[in-house]
Formats: sequence, structure tokens, C-alpha cells
Amino acid sequence: MKKLIDQISTVLAEGFQAAGYDPALGKAVVSNRPDLCQYQCNGAMAGAKQYRKAPFMIADDVVKAIGENPMFSKLEMVRPGYINMDLAPAFLAARLAELEADPLRGVERAAEPLSIVVDYGGPNVAKPLHVGHLRSAIIGESIKRTCRFLGHKVIGDAHLGDWGLQMGQIITELHERQPELPYFDPDFEGEYPAEAPFTISDLEEIYPAASKRCKVDEAYKKAAQTATLELQSGRRGYRALWKHIVDVSVADLKENYRKLDVDFDLWYGESNAQEDIAPMVQEMRGKGYAYLSEGALVVDVQEESDTREVPPCLILKSDGGAQYETTDLATIIQRKRDFDPDRMIYLADKRQELHYVRVFRCAYKTGLVDEHKCALEYVGFGTMNGQDGKPFKTREGGVLRLETLIKNVEDAVYEKVMSNGSISEEEGREVAHKVGIAAIKYGDLSNQPSKDYIFDLDKFASFEGNTGPYIMYTMVRIKSILTKYAAAYPDAKPGAIIAPVSKSETDLALTLCRFNEAVYETYEQKAPNRLCRYIYDLTAALNQFYVEHNIMKEPDPDRQAGYIALIKLVLHVLETAIDLLGFSAPERM
Ligand code: ARG
Repeated sequence: MKKLIDQISTVLAEGFQAAGYDPALGKAVVSNRPDLCQYQCNGAMAGAKQYRKAPFMIADDVVKAIGENPMFSKLEMVRPGYINMDLAPAFLAARLAELEADPLRGVERAAEPLSIVVDYGGPNVAKPLHVGHLRSAIIGESIKRTCRFLGHKVIGDAHLGDWGLQMGQIITELHERQPELPYFDPDFEGEYPAEAPFTISDLEEIYPAASKRCKVDEAYKKAAQTATLELQSGRRGYRALWKHIVDVSVADLKENYRKLDVDFDLWYGESNAQEDIAPMVQEMRGKGYAYLSEGALVVDVQEESDTREVPPCLILKSDGGAQYETTDLATIIQRKRDFDPDRMIYLADKRQELHYVRVFRCAYKTGLVDEHKCALEYVGFGTMNGQDGKPFKTREGGVLRLETLIKNVEDAVYEKVMSNGSISEEEGREVAHKVGIAAIKYGDLSNQPSKDYIFDLDKFASFEGNTGPYIMYTMVRIKSILTKYAAAYPDAKPGAIIAPVSKSETDLALTLCRFNEAVYETYEQKAPNRLCRYIYDLTAALNQFYVEHNIMKEPDPDRQAGYIALIKLVLHVLETAIDLLGFSAPERM
């Protein structure tokens, strides 16, 4: 379905043209005086100079040229030269009927679907999933779902951090603790055990211990670096051990992401880029892009227009080891070969911006991908802070595990749900899970991605205000009215949406019609906060409608059935919208 604003603009453009003016002047905007009209056009004001004519004369010509149009109940010139418009109630009703019939609620699939890789989540193997990775998962999931909704072919890749120094650190620590394991015996030629010699809780203790010791023990640190390099160069026992670390870790990560309703198509990691590194390095050298600088292999990516220094992209460290940049570059090769994507969207903390600038420039410059055929895009997000304005921590000052955060929110919601007293404990837990996830995700997504925000449990879990639970509550309330209506009028036929009469009905209809505009903007700007804004506007319009209309007490049965059809559509649009944000509503709460 065409965007409402474009549909209005088309009529205006034809009017300008018919009256002998430039059709480009015929642009509609949402009125900045909603008390006077719904939409307005300022084209006559803009054209006054060009046509050396008073704007009101131009506007008058255009209004006359458009004449009677069933789309408008009002189309008038207002001095000094605006064109003010209201849409006809019958036109709005017809549009709402179309929206109800359309499972995409007015959104059109892309005419030319793109192939898109979304690189998000980015958890690090062997480190517990903590709140630092929350935003990547939440924002990435929403961007992925939005792209997919528009008909693009989207692949979500977790891009695990599974190839860096932390792997060597864990291997070194395990060596200290269990030197008898066959993985450390260079002469061992048999089959390695199928079972991992540690559990996830062991790993969660081993990794911080190893990382701490690296900071104070030079020899230990060297050993960890060597182990990393040996792992990367394919030492058999280390590879086997590494595989255990990854498997144990990924099983745990999957469980965590499942709780969060985040779902990756690929669980690839930095390690999957391994085989592409050597040929890539060779080619970059061969073509003269990469050169040795203080022992390390680098590619210059500074550009003349830069106002800051952009250091060269590091391809290999002086010991020949792969770097964060190296694996990201080689992963581009792998993705190009496997999916030939039109876009790759990367989600990462905004402090990593320079990393992506360098990697993208290097990829374009060395021809890994063609800039005009494959867009590499970075979405940098701000930090989730605690009440003190500093990155969110536990009360003891440690990093908070994602699991704990989810549990805390769910517990808070659970208490509120149970205090209503009408729900069983089991249902209460289920509801608390859904509403809790909505609280966390909406709390995050309603902020512009690049901004930091403060995680405030009381605020996020509140059933009032601009919160996830409030949206859930609004949806549950619609469901309950629908149930009540069905029980009271078991024989009522499904009614049709009727032409809006009151101001609140009209506003609600207009807001419903703007759903597709919100989705397109969310997609174009990679900004789920735009969709949150829309959802909030829609719930506000619905509440105003409730204030003015008592659906269950409406005496006219057709009107009543029309209201029921209207709020059902609101529910359907909200369901579609929150699915794009990555959560869903319970039946009751
Ligand atoms: N593992 C990285 C981190 O924890 C994030 C990975 C983001 N994706 C990427 N392709 N570099 O910071």
C-alpha cells in the first residue's frame, strides 16, 4: 500500500501541474496545526518567487484545479498561501479495511529484495554473557526482523569471539591445572576424548583467573600468546581443546539468547575466517596494498579528507598472529563467497567505530568487495548505564550477567502480575517472562541506538508510561474487550470498520494508516526507536479513543461492531510492530 503522505502528495502534484506550476511543489506534510487540519502543503509559498505571484493565488489555482476529490473532506486555501487538508472519513474507513485485509498492514515488500548479512550479538566464547552484549543482540535482532519483514533475504550471524587471546589464556591455565591431559602432549597421536574436561562453570572461573594472571605474570602472558599462535597455526591438541571450549560455551550462549528471543541463523565465529586469512594476506601483499611496518603487516587507510588520524589497518601482528581486523576482513571474504550480500550490517559498541572505519576502508581499497555492490555498514550503539551514569554493574561492582539481569526484571514483573491475584503461579511466570523481555527490549530500543541510556529497573518494569509493560498492558486490554464482546454478543457477525466521526476516532485511524511510514523509516535509518515512537503514539491515540467512547455501552450495534473491528486492527498492528522489535504479548496480565 502506498504511503498515505505520498498518496496525498500525488494528488497535490497533479493539481500543481494542472494549474500550470511545477508538480514538485506539491508535497504534503503532516499539519503543524492539528487543530486546523490534518495535512498541509506549503508549495505555493515556496513557488511564489519563481512565479512572481502571491502564494495565495497559486494555492487558490491548485485547489481549484484539484476540484472535488473523494479523498478529502476539506481542501482549502488559507492565507497567506497554505493548502489545508482533511481526509474524508469514507476514504479513511476504506483504507483501514485494506489494512485489516493486508497481513503486512500496509507495508510493501521491496521490489528488489536484497541479500543482507546482519552481524550482531558478538559474544565471546568462554566469557559469560554479560550486559555489555545486550544491546548488540537486541538492536541487531530488531534490525534483522525489520529487513526480513520488508522482504529482504537476511542472514543473522552471531560472529563469536572465538579466535583471540582469550583462547590461548584458557589453554595456558588448563595446562597449569591439568598438565596430564592428552591435549598438551605434542606426541599424542590417538583420539582425543569426546567429553570436555571442564563445564561451563569451570570455564567461567578459569577465564578470569587466566586473564588476571596475564596482567601480572610476564612469562605466563608469553605462554598464553604462544598458545594462541599455536592454536591459530593448527596445533592438533589445542584445536581439539578449543573445540571443547567453543562447544561448551555455545551451548550456554544458545540458552541465554533463547531466553532473550534472539535467534541467529549462523553461529559462525572469528575462527571460521581462518582458512581465508593466508590467501588474503598473500593477495594484499602481492597487489602492493600491504607492507611491513615495525614488523607488522599493515594497509594504509588514511584519506585526504580525514580530519583525524586514521591509523593503518593491521593485517598481521609482528608474530604473524591474526588480529581482530584480520578476522573481520577474512570474514568479509567468506560472506562474499557464501552469500554475495548487497549489504553487511555490523552492530557493535560505538567505541569500536574506528575499527570498522579501518576494516571497511581496507576491504574496499583492497577489493575484497566492490563499494558499489556491497555496502558495509556499521551501527554503533551507546552504553547501558546504571543509575550512577556509569556502565551497568552489579551491586558489588562486577559485570552483571545477562541471566541475572533478565531474572531481576522478570521477578519485578512477576510480583506485580501476581498482586492482581487472578493468575496461577505457572501462568504468572510465563507472563512475567514475556513482559520482562518486553520491558528490557522496549527500554533499550526506545532510545536512539547511538545514545547511552540509564537502565532503571523500576521505570522499565512499570506498567505505566512509555514502557514495554505498558504496551503489553494496552494489548491485553484490547484482548479482554474482544473477549467480553464475544461473550456478550455470541451471535454478532464480524463488523466492518466504519467511517470515523469523532476526533479521537479520526486520530486513531490516521495513526493506523501511518504504520508503513514508521516501518520504512525504521529500516532506512536502522533505528528501531522510530518504531517505538510509533507504537507509543498508537497506544496514546487508542487511549484517547477509550476516553471518548465506551465500546461495551455503545447503543448502536453497527457502530459498536465497527469499534470492535477498529480496536482489533490496532491490536494487529501492535502485534506486527512488537514482533519487529523482538517480543510478543501475553493473553492476560
Ligand atoms: N566479539 C566482539 C566484542 O565482544 C564483537 C564482535 C562484533 N562483530 C564483528 N564482526 N567484529 O567486542
